[in-house]
This record gives sequence, C-alpha cells and structure tokens, in this order.
Amino acid sequence: MMKDKIMVALDVPTATQALQLRDQLVGHVGWLKVGLRLFVAEGPALIRELAQHHRIFLDLKFHDIPNTVHQAVESAGALGVDMVNVHASGGEAMLRAASEAAAAFPDMRLIAVTVLTSVAGGDAIRQQILQAAALVADCGLDGVVCSAQEVAAIKAQQGSAFLTVTPGIRWGHQSLQDQARIATPADAVRCGTDYMVIGRPIIQAKDPAAAADEAVAMMSEACQT
Ligand code: C5P
Repeated sequence: MMKDKIMVALDVPTATQALQLRDQLVGHVGWLKVGLRLFVAEGPALIRELAQHHRIFLDLKFHDIPNTVHQAVESAGALGVDMVNVHASGGEAMLRAASEAAAAFPDMRLIAVTVLTSVAGGDAIRQQILQAAALVADCGLDGVVCSAQEVAAIKAQQGSAFLTVTPGIRWGHQSLQDQARIATPADAVRCGTDYMVIGRPIIQAKDPAAAADEAVAMMSEACQT
C-alpha cells in the first residue's frame, strides 16, 4: 500500500507534540521517523509508545569508531525499531561493524546515508553516491538514504532488493527550505523508491492527515499512468 511507503519525520521538540501528530496520522501513513531533536529530548520511552501504531525509523545517523557504532546499533535493535541508519562516510570498518551488530536483529533494516539531500547535485555528487552505495551493499547493509534523483541508478547497480529511502520530498508550491535534491511524491514513486521521508510538508500542514493523504493520492495516480 502506498501509505506504507511514507515515513513522517517527527521533527518536533516534545513527546506531547509527537503523540498528537501520531494520533492524527494513525491509518494515514505506515512509518514515523524519529530524529535527533526528538530522541535527544524524549528518548526510548517515546519510541516504545510510537511503535504501538506505526513502524519506526530511528534516524540518528551514527558516525563514530566501529566499536561504538556496533554498540549503538545493538541498542537500537534491543529497543525494537524497524530501521536504523549510519553515515556511509564512516568507512568500511564502521559499516561492517554496524552490519554485524544488526545481524542479531533480522527484523530491523540497517541503511546508510550517502550524501545529504540538502547538498546540491551534479556529476561528482552522483558518482560519490554510487560509490557509497556499492560500499554499503558490499558491507552487507540493507540499503541507502539518497535523493529520488539517484534511485534508478542505484537500483540498476545494486538490484531492486537494495532499499532506497528518499528525503527531500516537496510538491505544489511548498518551499525547498534547506533541501536541494528534491522530488515530488509522484516522481519518487515513479523512480522506484522504497520509502519516502516527508517532514515539514506534513507536520507543518494545517491538517497533517490531509497532507499525507494528498501525497498518497499523488503516488497512487503516478503508478496508474
Ligand atoms: O522537513 P523535511 O521533509 O525536509 O524533512 C526531511 C527529514 O529527512 C529530516 O528529518 C532530515 O533530518 C531527514 N534527512 C534528510 N536528508 C538525508 C537524511 C535524512 O533530509 N539525507
């Protein structure tokens, strides 16, 4: 179902605001993404509560020495999240350590950030992303975070089972804000992305559920044409 491809970034400061959004989004999207702001403020207790109705992507982008990242991935697995990520730029030893830790949690997907979607594109960036994706796959991770603009090339290189998670989703007259490599929900789904991360276009909308439904409708229409 298209709604299961949407991960809403709960970039809010308090559990109260997060739970209010969660309540509005039950049945409208499959995933909630908890990033640095909310996790630093509210921690694991909130994750357990959010996991009652949605799958959870813990987006903390680990980037440290291999042993520390191994331990952090283990803690994410013990917490029961459905997806966690590291930075591909942490290098091969770090990626392998993360992958070894994740192997103990077969239901948790481990992905790596290639180049942030706030960085503008170009041939050099594209090349860097494809090289990072090859290393990430070789180290045994499940996929990458990239922009929709790179999904087709990554799938061609690594196969369709290699996951792509794409932030930088905007549509209509929405402002780019700090994002650079953007795509609409329709474009992202046409490119073959597995999951799209949507933050401000949903959480700052007057009616977050209606904004999510609008994204789902655009995705469904794109699949029919
Ligand atoms: O509000 P917006 O839709 O731009 O939110 C995008 C979300 O995706 C943010 O939570 C941001 O941290 C996250 N993200 C990103 N680019 C990446 C990885 C994660 O924008 N490469």
